[in-house]
Amino acid sequence: MKIAPSILSANFLKLEEEVSRINVSGADFLHIDVMDGHFVPNLTFGPAIVEQIKQVSTLPLDIHLMVENISFFVDLFALLTPRFLSFHIEEEKHIHRIVQKIRDYGISPAVVVNPHTPLELLKYILPDVDMVLLMSVNPGFGGQKFIPATLDKVRQLREMIDDASLRCLIEVDGGVSDLNARELFDVGADILVAGSYIFGSTDYQEAVCKMRKS
Ligand code: DX5
Ligand code: ZN
Repeated sequence: MKIAPSILSANFLKLEEEVSRINVSGADFLHIDVMDGHFVPNLTFGPAIVEQIKQVSTLPLDIHLMVENISFFVDLFALLTPRFLSFHIEEEKHIHRIVQKIRDYGISPAVVVNPHTPLELLKYILPDVDMVLLMSVNPGFGGQKFIPATLDKVRQLREMIDDASLRCLIEVDGGVSDLNARELFDVGADILVAGSYIFGSTDYQEAVCKMRKS
């Protein structure tokens, strides 16, 4: 089980200190939520800020694009060589083309699906991506409540991946904490994103440890 703290819930006035604390927390990736104010009703970081975060982070970046104009943003953020670069399939007509574009940059492509988006839409793209991110809240904000139907969705996606003998990872994002980490692991999640749970705790290492222990 890998853990990716979402920097969205960090104290932005102390960004360097926050990233440094995550570096030694035992987490595996640093999750970066890029929002454009169009695809989602919120606005976050551009590439200049993410580049500075990258300079301080010893963890590989996991960049989650919640944007329109995906191709344009892929070009901007691919230059920062994240470990994963993910985009929402709801927003893209040419999913395969974008996946290929990300791969051509030497980066692992990942697709994201909103809570209401059916898994059937992933069937023909699954062999081409390294990860699927299942949203367990409506994208746009940290600190929302986990949507319980996600558990069944993870289970079904795990079956689809295993039945086709694929190696694609499953990431879950939104409302994740030590309280549901165990259930998510049991149904087949590989990477858990946690924002408010980790940054809302006083000891980040302990929070990450609690998620693993559960
Ligand atoms: C929501 C973002 C999440 C968010 C998770 O749109 O994609 O990554 O930061 O925050 P929590 O863990 O607080 O739900
Ligand atoms: Zn996210």
